[in-house]
Amino acid sequence: MEKSRVLVVGGTGYLGRRIVKASLAAGHPTFVLHRPEIGIDVEKASFSDHGSLVAAVRQVDAVVCAIAGVHIRSHQIPLQLKLVEAMKEAGNVKRFLPSEFGIDPARMGSALEPGRITFDDKMAVRRAVEEAGIPFTYISAGCFAGYFIGGLCQPGNILPAKERVTILGSGDVKAIFVDEDDIATYAVKTIDDPRAANKTVYIRPPENVLSQMELVRIWEDLIERKLETVSLSADDFLSAMKGEDYVSQVGMGHFYHVLYEGCLTNFDVAEEASQLYPDVAYTRVRDYLRRYL
Ligand SMILES: NC(=O)c1ccc[n+]([C@@H]2O[C@H](COP(=O)([O-])OP(=O)(O)OC[C@H]3O[C@@H](n4cnc5c(N)ncnc54)[C@H](OP(=O)(O)O)[C@@H]3O)[C@@H](O)[C@H]2O)c1
Repeated sequence: MEKSRVLVVGGTGYLGRRIVKASLAAGHPTFVLHRPEIGIDVEKASFSDHGSLVAAVRQVDAVVCAIAGVHIRSHQIPLQLKLVEAMKEAGNVKRFLPSEFGIDPARMGSALEPGRITFDDKMAVRRAVEEAGIPFTYISAGCFAGYFIGGLCQPGNILPAKERVTILGSGDVKAIFVDEDDIATYAVKTIDDPRAANKTVYIRPPENVLSQMELVRIWEDLIERKLETVSLSADDFLSAMKGEDYVSQVGMGHFYHVLYEGCLTNFDVAEEASQLYPDVAYTRVRDYLRRYL
C-alpha cells in the first residue's frame, strides 16, 4: 500500500522533530509546516494566513500536529482550531493527529486548576475536529520519559538523584513511562491503520507501567546503592504547588493527577499501541535509565 503523505505541524519541537524522523523512517513522504521566517526547505505557511494553511494541507493525506499546549492559547483564535478550519476547507485530509500525546483529556473533567487548561484546550480541539468530520486518531502517550524518568518523577528534576529522593505519596501508584522516540513511532504507525481511525490509541507498553517506587528501585539496582526516601503527602504537594509560578503549577497539577491519583492507569483500554504494533521494540525503563550512569 502506498504510504500517506504526512504534514507535521510543529516539526521543530521536542516531540515534533521525533515525529518527522519516525515518519521518514516509515517511508511516508513527509512535509514540515513551519513559519516562513525559518528559511529552510519546508511547507511555508502561517497560522495568520488561512490560505497558506489550506494550500499546505491540500498537499498531503495526513496531518500530525505537535505544537505545545502552552502555544494553543497564544493567539486570539487557537492555532489548532485554525488548522482544523483549513483542513475542513481543503477537504482532503484522511487522518489528523492533533497535539495530544499525554493524559487522555476526555477523562480529566475534574482536573485541578490551573493545569486543567491543557485538557480543556485539547477537548476544544477534539470538538472542532469531530464537528468538522475530519477522521482522527488521538494518541494518549503516558509520561514522556525525559520529563518523568530522568528526575525519578520529582517535578522540576531532570537527572536522577544519587542520594535522596522525594516519593509522591505512597509511591505505589502506577504510571506509564514512554521514550519519546517510541511515542513518535507508534503515532506514525496509526496514520494508515484503519483500526486507529476515529479512536483514541493508548500507549501503554506493559513493562513500562510502573510506580515511582519501582522506578527508584530500578535506578538503585543500576547504581548499586540505596537512596534515602522521603514521602510527600498529597496535601503538602498541593500546598507547595500553590506557591509556584503559573507554568510550574500547570506541570505540577499533571504530576499530581498521574502520581497521586493514577489517572493514566485507573481504567482499561481497548486500542493499545504495543498490542496493535507488536513489531515495535519499545525502550524499557531500565534501558532508558542507563543513559544517566
Ligand atoms: N505526556 C507528556 O509527558 C508530555 C510532556 C510534554 C508535552 N506533551 C505534549 O506533547 C505535545 C508537544 O509538546 P512539545 O513539548 O513537543 O512542544 P514544543 O517542543 O514546545 O514544540 C512546539 C512546536 O510548535 C511550534 N509553534 C509554536 N507556536 C507556533 C506558531 N505560532 N506558528 C507555528 N508553529 C508554532 C514550534 O515552532 P518554533 O520552533 O517555530 O517555535 C515548535 O515546533 C503537546 O501536546 C504537549 O501537551 C506531553
